[in-house]
Amino acid sequence: MKRRIFKLAGFIALFTVLNVYGTTPSKVQRLTSPDGKIVVNFKMTDGKPTYSVQKSGKTIIKPSNLGFVLERNDSLNSGLEIIKVSKSSLDETWKQPWGEEIQVRNNYNELKMSLKEKNGKQRKFNMVFRAFNDGVGFRYEFPKQKNLNEFQISDELTEFALAENDSAWSIPSYKGVYYEMLWKKDQLSKKDTVTTPLTIETSDGKYILLHEASLIDYAKMNLFPVKGSSTMKADLTPWSNGIKVYAKSPMVTPWRTVILADNLNQLANARVMLNLNEPSKIKDTSWIHPAKYIGIWWGMHMGKYTWSQGPKHGATTKNTKAYIDFAVAHKMNGVLVEGWNYGWDTDWVANGDKFSFTKPYPDFDIKEISKYAEKKGINLIGHNETGGSTINYENQLDSAFRFYKKYGINSVKTGYVNPLLDKKERHSSQYGVRHYLKVVETAARYNIMIDNHEPVIPTGLQRTYPNLMTQEGVRGQEYDAWSQDGGNPPEHTCIVPFTRGLAGPMDFTFGTFNFNNPVYPKTRVQTTIAKQLALYVVIYSPFQMVSDLPENYEGNPAFEFIELVPVDWARTIILDGKIGDYVVTARKDKYSNNWFVGAITDENARKIKLKFDFLEKGKKYKMKIFKDVSDSDWKTNPYAIKIEELEIDSNTVIDLSLAKGGGAALYLKEL
Ligand code: NOJ
Repeated sequence: MKRRIFKLAGFIALFTVLNVYGTTPSKVQRLTSPDGKIVVNFKMTDGKPTYSVQKSGKTIIKPSNLGFVLERNDSLNSGLEIIKVSKSSLDETWKQPWGEEIQVRNNYNELKMSLKEKNGKQRKFNMVFRAFNDGVGFRYEFPKQKNLNEFQISDELTEFALAENDSAWSIPSYKGVYYEMLWKKDQLSKKDTVTTPLTIETSDGKYILLHEASLIDYAKMNLFPVKGSSTMKADLTPWSNGIKVYAKSPMVTPWRTVILADNLNQLANARVMLNLNEPSKIKDTSWIHPAKYIGIWWGMHMGKYTWSQGPKHGATTKNTKAYIDFAVAHKMNGVLVEGWNYGWDTDWVANGDKFSFTKPYPDFDIKEISKYAEKKGINLIGHNETGGSTINYENQLDSAFRFYKKYGINSVKTGYVNPLLDKKERHSSQYGVRHYLKVVETAARYNIMIDNHEPVIPTGLQRTYPNLMTQEGVRGQEYDAWSQDGGNPPEHTCIVPFTRGLAGPMDFTFGTFNFNNPVYPKTRVQTTIAKQLALYVVIYSPFQMVSDLPENYEGNPAFEFIELVPVDWARTIILDGKIGDYVVTARKDKYSNNWFVGAITDENARKIKLKFDFLEKGKKYKMKIFKDVSDSDWKTNPYAIKIEELEIDSNTVIDLSLAKGGGAALYLKEL
């Protein structure tokens, strides 16, 4: 037994290693979480490995398969023995450069087993399990070895044999694009192949979340029910030739994660995914900071402007300067500009390889604009729509980021609108995964932050690359501009915080104040104004867009909340909610003792009792409430809003009435 104590600046790590040599390790290995509640049992039965998970004595995951099928149907999941076992523990606290909370505790017990084929090629791989108090992570490691050097994975056999056939929220993996679908709830056994995160609601009111962490140079994991059962099996997104992963030892797979939460607050605050990503590779993060931004953007979606050249071109020097002025006047620090570069003038989805990322249109004077932005203290957010042509983008990546750095552009929104990358490969394949990381790594070298649209679903890589600020991978507010089905139904935003949102920040882009849609009159934002405000608290992103046209905000007193709301937080609490029905979220500002609360509901009006017992005892706050009025209704009366002030403390309890599709946004200023 070796015991070492590290004391590093700001955190304490306790690390214990137990190695078992000399004896044949037992075929059954057990791992418990630090609080003893979660138990993982690993078992070798006739040379086949399985694992199971229990919490508080209840079986959550029954014995489930592990292993692989390699090329030519060569299985790597049988004839195995455990040749070595080691155990270790860690309890450290690390600090996020930005996030939903500042400090993250990383406390786990680890069990690592080396497995080897008894006969034949005697190939080896390790199974690593980590048990946290809020869940479990496990992954496969392939040490360097002669008989498993370069290889192709045809199938990952990982299963999650859920003990109960509970209902879960999911979107299908291969029907639809970019994860831009509406989440549906049904029983596990009835699912199609679905994407993760998969949020399971148990019959006793608890939650199980299946997802992954640290997706690097591998394919995204999807899940499907095995033969109509509640056993969910991994399905890796393939390359166009059917191969799932091109591998070379030594290598590790992403972590498979199982979060076990007793309530929504625990679910939203579980940090298993972030903890299973490597610490930041960016040593100096002083250039990385969250932003509240407006953009030459909604105007394109509303038909007022075009991305392409012509009489309605949006990204002009004059227009951009006006947006910069608006941002300054209303306490924002970022301005996004889309349609500034050559490539938009033909069918850009079909001709993504024609985009230039360094050549501005003649009416966009980048020199003048960047000087103006700098003088006004505004960060310009560049836009790189690729039309899915990653080859064209990668060829220009260095020159483009060098060009932006020269002009002080410290953030870039990337985009991949095309059902396939380079007309061939899926966004969530190993091909896509490699590309996205290449962009983030290259951007980091030029001190550029990334907002990635049409991504592979996030897996916590922002811990390792904190310049990966936010991503789309969600049916966002743009669907309220042009979706033929009328827009996002009111329940959508009551679902995504506990599904896609648990995979990482979402660039959803709310903030609409004008619900008329000149292009598709039957499509619109299905909320009240108060709900638009509340979304700034409920849906997390360190880059938060103020998405409407400047003229739609002018003179509206409700806009004050958007000016006030921060985008970086010290703490987050889910005060109340039910997935798909309503959500009440409280967040504490990172730079003051002020709190913000957002409450939203679906298509049903509802009354909620709001207790402020999360506030520090004895402290007084001046609270400003932006709320629906008695006859507010997203359909018939979305604009009415009431703004009220009152003094409160931790003993205060208030009744809030949320209208159909409505909400309430609360600003609590410490007195
Ligand atoms: C889809 C993105 O989500 C949207 O924000 C962007 O404006 C268009 N693509 C054009 O790049």
